[in-house]
This record gives sequence, structure tokens and C-alpha cells, in this order.
Amino acid sequence: MTYAAITGWGACMPPAVLTNADLATFLDTSDDWIISRTGMKERRVSHVPAIELSTVAAARALACANLPADDVDLIIYGSCSYDEAVPNCASGVQLNLGATHAASMDVNTACTSFLYGLITATAMIRTGVVKNAVVIGVELITHYMDWSDRNVAVLFGDGAAAVVLQASEKESGVIGSIIGCNAEARPSLRVRGIGCGYAGRGITLGDTIWDFDGQVIFKRAVKAMSGASARVMQECGVTAGQIDLVVPHQANLRIIESVAKYAGIPMERVMLTVQKYGNMSAATVPVALVEALETGRVKPGSLLLMTGFGGGLTWASLLVRWGDRVTPLGATDRALPPCTKTALEMVNEIRAKQDPHGRSAAGLMSAEFTEKQPAG
Ligand code: UT7
Repeated sequence: MTYAAITGWGACMPPAVLTNADLATFLDTSDDWIISRTGMKERRVSHVPAIELSTVAAARALACANLPADDVDLIIYGSCSYDEAVPNCASGVQLNLGATHAASMDVNTACTSFLYGLITATAMIRTGVVKNAVVIGVELITHYMDWSDRNVAVLFGDGAAAVVLQASEKESGVIGSIIGCNAEARPSLRVRGIGCGYAGRGITLGDTIWDFDGQVIFKRAVKAMSGASARVMQECGVTAGQIDLVVPHQANLRIIESVAKYAGIPMERVMLTVQKYGNMSAATVPVALVEALETGRVKPGSLLLMTGFGGGLTWASLLVRWGDRVTPLGATDRALPPCTKTALEMVNEIRAKQDPHGRSAAGLMSAEFTEKQPAG
């Protein structure tokens, strides 16, 4: 039987740090509130486009796997942040890498985009469609954040990471997965102002209003991730005691704690980055995976539980069997250009271009976007 082993990994975190204190300079919020409600202390703000973050992450993952770009058959760009919608962003990464033989596609399931991409690439390798794939989880949310809305502006950050998958006869990579979507709750997480439904309304990217019912999302996230994790473990005949490390979506420390509790897995066996990077949507799981590898928390043969949820509300839980190698085969010099501004300076520049009070929320909505908000 063919498996899709994870043979390379690499992250690319933008260097500029936005602290809770920075946010409090323009929002009615505080370090205490943000830490106690979310666990977040800092997040990153990118000075480069999402394709560039993705390129560096993917180049590092390829060097780690010692796989020439020419041998890549498939690139999946998992994200809901697009530098461009047409052409897709995966093709931009392909061009930058020189991966001339790669098919290239974008997968957008919001925060679960990397997990959905990982499952898609795994299925394509296991069925013989491709042999070598790069799967990216990236997000550049700071550019379409509504910086006037404290309900969401404190939660998100930018980042990217990628993995290389290669066909293998040994049991490794994704060995089980459960995915789904609770579409009746889609109005609880919506970024209004991006997409064709808003065309002709004089709205530009970045000029957004976020519908974000934190408590509805919170409860549904815990339920969906806990249910999917229990199911995938049951289907694979795995008990909580056999999970070496949980690599969860990092939307809120309290959500992660609840999911771990339901799964019966102590927090010592959960990888956390939420305090440093906030919610990077599709990038949270791969960035946490890379940090887990770099800090020795993934061992040869480790069994990992990855779980996430996001807009849609999409959700996914995967079991990943790690292979024999937990150290990179190589490295690359590829890196981001230096950042000459502080995170707060960059955010203030974005804020200056936004027009949060010049339009009404209702004015951005078309009839088909006004579904009723579900109860929690
Ligand atoms: O990746 C998927 C995306 N999303 C999520 O996973 C988010 C899921 N939800 C959550 O993480 C939490 O619901 C939040 C962190 C978003 C909010 O925490 P909460 O404990 O549910 O707070 P809340 O929304 O009930 O707000 C409590 C209070 C409110 O004030 P009142 O009405 O009690 O006076 C808010 O107005 O906190 C206020 N508040 C803030 N105060 C200071 C809301 N945002 C802030 C803020 N700073 N940034």
C-alpha cells in the first residue's frame, strides 16, 4: 500500500511583532483581557505578500526533504488570504520555486485549509495521481482585518509553513481523517467585503466588516473538534494514551484546553503557539508542527492528532504517523527581505487606508448573505 510520508517541513514567520500593548494604543482593550480570554500575548505582521511568505516556507520544506523543486508534482496553497484570486496563489509559489512540473491549486476552507490540503495531497499520492507534493498553510490576515473592531482585531496574525509529502511504502503520514462542515453556522464567521458578491459596491480588499460571533464559534469549535477527534481515533483503533502530541488549530487557549480535556489528553502533550503568534488561521497547524519538530517534541514513529475548525464552519481531525526522520536533510539560504518598519507602524498604515466608518454594514450585504444567525 502507498502512503504519503511527511519528509520535509519549514516555516516562515514574519519578524515584526505586534503586542497586546500595541493593540491597546488604538483599541479599547488591554493585555489582561486578551491574555485571560485567549492566551495571546503577541502576533506577527507581514511586510511581504502571502506568496512570498509561502515561497520561503516551501523552499525550507524542500531543502529539509532534500527534494529538488523540479521533482514536485503538486503544490497546494491552503489559505483564505489571496494576493490574487486569478491567477491562483499556488502558481505564484510554483513560479518562485521553479517547480516547473507541479500542478498548482489553492484550497480555501478558512482556518482548516492546511488540513484539508494535507488530506487532498495525501489522497492524490495514495491513489497514484502524484508522487511528491508541497502543502502550504499561510495567512496574511492583517491586510483585511477591520482594525476598528476589537472583537476580531486582537485575535489574528500572519504566518506561513509548508510540508513536503512523498510516496512511501511504509505506514506514515496521514493514516486517518474526518472532515466536515456545519454550514448552518456560516453567518457566525464572515468577512464582508471580499468576494464577487460585493462586486460593484465600491468595496476594495481590506475595506472589510467582520461578522464574528465569538461565543457561537467557540462552542461549535469545541464540539466539532472534539467529536471529529473522538471519531478518527475510534476508526483507527487508537486510544488517547497512544497520542504522543496534539497539534491543534490555535484560535484560543481555552478552546484548545477544552478539546484536550474531551479527548482525555493532558496539556503537556499539546503543542501551543497561540501565545506567540495568535490565530494565523490556516498557518497555525503547520507552524505548530514545524516548531514541535524543531524543539524535539516529535520523535521517530510519533502519533500526532491534528485538529482544526474555521469559517464555514469547516472542521477536520487527522491522525498522522511520523516517519523515522525528525531532523532536516538540508537547509536553504532563502529568507525574507529585511523588515524596516515596526508591526505597529505597518498596522497604522493599513488603518489609515481603511474606511471603517464611511460605510454601513447593511450596505455591504446582498440578500443571499443575510442568513439567520444560528443559536449556539
Ligand atoms: O479560527 C476560528 C476563529 N475564531 C475563534 O475561534 C474564536 C472563538 N471565540 C473566542 O475565542 C472567544 O469567544 C473570544 C476570544 C472571541 C471572546 O471571548 P469571550 O469570553 O467569548 O468574550 P465575549 O465575546 O463574551 O465578550 C466579553 C466582554 C464583552 O463586554 P461586555 O458585553 O461583557 O461588557 C465584550 O464587549 O468583553 C468585551 N470585549 C473586549 N474587551 C476588551 C470583546 N473584545 C474585547 C477586547 N478587549 N478585545
